[in-house]
Amino acid sequence: MLEELERLEAGARDELARAGSTAELEAWRVKYLGKKSTLTGALRSLASLSPEERRTVGARANALKDALQSSYAEKQETLSLSSIDKSLLSASVDVTLPGRPTPCGRLHPITQVFQEICAVFARMGFQVIEGPEVERDYYNFEALNIPQDHPARDMFATLWLDTEQDRDARLLRTHTSPMQVRLMEKHKPPLRFIVPGRTYRYEATDATHDWMFHQVEGLAVDTDITLRDLKETLFEFCRGIFGRDTGARFRCDYFPFVEPGGEVAIECFQCKGAGCRLCKGSGWLEILGCGMVHPNVLSRCGIDPTVYSGFAFGMGVERITILRHGVDDIRHFYSGDFRFLRQF
Ligand code: FA5
Repeated sequence: MLEELERLEAGARDELARAGSTAELEAWRVKYLGKKSTLTGALRSLASLSPEERRTVGARANALKDALQSSYAEKQETLSLSSIDKSLLSASVDVTLPGRPTPCGRLHPITQVFQEICAVFARMGFQVIEGPEVERDYYNFEALNIPQDHPARDMFATLWLDTEQDRDARLLRTHTSPMQVRLMEKHKPPLRFIVPGRTYRYEATDATHDWMFHQVEGLAVDTDITLRDLKETLFEFCRGIFGRDTGARFRCDYFPFVEPGGEVAIECFQCKGAGCRLCKGSGWLEILGCGMVHPNVLSRCGIDPTVYSGFAFGMGVERITILRHGVDDIRHFYSGDFRFLRQF
């Protein structure tokens, strides 16, 4: 029986070496490893042998089966590789053909400017943090020194999510300033944060106003922060984003949560200060509101206004992008028009 297995192995290996196609290989498999093969028959007939013979012949037959199976797998791989080679040889490849262009995605212009703004402030030591778009009346207004029925609420036309308008009522935040309160509640001075995010207003749209736009809020609180720090931080920001040659203007303005309050405007890129439709004839485009954090806001957040002072600002990212890239209408940004978006 052992001799028969030796002969079987020699024959099987010889035929396997000569198999040149997958069909021949399959025939070989059926012949040597199939259900009706000599080897399978030998394994079946083990029961009729004496226990001594069964041990030696059984071990040899099983080892032979494993060896033939792995030789079969190797041969199968060799044949499939050589069939790929052949198909490559028969196909002609024109190496001078230009490749097919792959459309490449890019960041939305607002995202790009967001990143530039964050980088300028990160260089000045500000930390970036985000906040909720669905806010409570308390954070959007009350804690910012704008109680119920305060006329300043008209500055922020609001999209309400609840019909009952109490301090817990939910709304789509009209500015990123609620994060001033959330930050001061959570962190103790010294603090220096910027908060990029989306804001919403129930407003008619025109070339410089949209109902949804982005702001970056800034907040710095410490023992010795002055209006000079605020102005120099904002002018450094303007130089970083618009370059040294673009005019920037600082003027007084009113916001209930700062005292004193101000606004920064940049020279209109379209008319270079002469006055046009975009800047509504003024020659300037307002990009941000700012001021020294009101003592009432500091106290409400548990920060002693006799020890600490701070500045805050909130800038419109679309307005900055308009000026940065010379865009003539804010509504282009969300029109979804690829002819516009591909330019950035
Ligand atoms: C505010 O939103 C204040 N929270 C800013 C602030 C923060 C003041 C901290 C003081 C201290 P204002 O409503 O002016 O302010 O908006 C700030 C900026 O957002 C504007 O200068 C403008 O660039 C942009 N902005 C305002 N409304 C719109 C709008 N409808 N569409 C596009 N951008 C707008």
